[in-house]
Amino acid sequence: MPLAQIIGTGSYAPAQVITNRDLEKIVNTSDAWITERTGIKERRKAAPGETTSDMAAAAAREALAMAGTRPEELDLIVVGTITADMPMPSCAVLVQAKLGAKRAFAFDVAAACAGSVYALSVADQFIRTGQAKRALVIGADLFTGVLNWKDRNTCVLFGDGAGAMVLAPSEEEGRGILSTHLRTDGTLAEILTIPAGGSREPLTEENLREQRHKVVMNGREVFKCAVRELTSVTREALRVHGFTPAQVDHVIVHQANMRILEAVLQRIEIPIEKCWINLDKYGNTSAASVPIALDEANRAGKLKRGDVVAMMAVGAGMAWGSAMVRW
Ligand code: UT7
Repeated sequence: MPLAQIIGTGSYAPAQVITNRDLEKIVNTSDAWITERTGIKERRKAAPGETTSDMAAAAAREALAMAGTRPEELDLIVVGTITADMPMPSCAVLVQAKLGAKRAFAFDVAAACAGSVYALSVADQFIRTGQAKRALVIGADLFTGVLNWKDRNTCVLFGDGAGAMVLAPSEEEGRGILSTHLRTDGTLAEILTIPAGGSREPLTEENLREQRHKVVMNGREVFKCAVRELTSVTREALRVHGFTPAQVDHVIVHQANMRILEAVLQRIEIPIEKCWINLDKYGNTSAASVPIALDEANRAGKLKRGDVVAMMAVGAGMAWGSAMVRW
């Protein structure tokens, strides 16, 4: 069975920039604190009326153009998101309609910031088994819409965006997605949640007033989990292929916090120079983070044929995963 290959990438970030200085006017924070503790300088915010599926479709059009693929050729669309345009139907069906991808079946994968790696893994299975010949994988989140702008613990961290990848069966042996590794620990569910708005806590006037329909996070616990599990899932991927850290040419890792990136890269013994970093510009864009970074590295000409690319992400769940790719 041929491997699945990433034949096109694309990304989209809304035009409006929110700087750390802008946030100083909203919550009790400072550019110095945010920069020092996270590495983030600015993030993007969707325009009024702009939706997750709008951003996803914009990123997808770029990826399709690079892949030389028409929307009608797509068999499958998987969108990693937890901020779909509405609770029902999925964001993916709206993307399908916007692109005119008539033949594709489409669905969302909810793995928060790990969403794109989970979506990539799902699409990879369909391509490997021959059930799909062309798949569109998107990570998209409009996270500014689920932030409590009075909570400095969370509102300084996130931004909006979308990234996309087009997959096709590889025409070259050994080239493509070598493996994906997904892991979950649901006992950590409570450390990063949107508590209200689901079946456990339906929306009421009271919980809306208390902003319980917005993100609540235990930052320290998420930080510890992210460092521990991004490290373990990358080591697992290296072990499976017998790769040494030196054989990894590029790291495309979820952009959550510069200190998380540094700690993980140090533990897996890969120099930080091999890691594409853009969280200073976008903050944490949740599921969009990995495919935006991949697209930027790709368009910058960094990814050469045959290079080994390690991709990994972690998010609410807690859910995490890695993908090892021979470019
Ligand atoms: O994709 C996964 C999504 N989430 C993440 O990746 C987040 C992972 N966690 C983190 O990145 C870090 O834990 C944070 C950036 C969220 C926080 O950094 P920290 O070094 O763990 O800070 P802390 O939570 O231990 O807080 C230290 C202090 C506290 O004040 P006191 O209690 O020491 O007086 C906080 O209240 O910093 C305070 N603080 C802030 N101060 C200024 C928290 N947020 C802010 C802020 N501005 N925005």
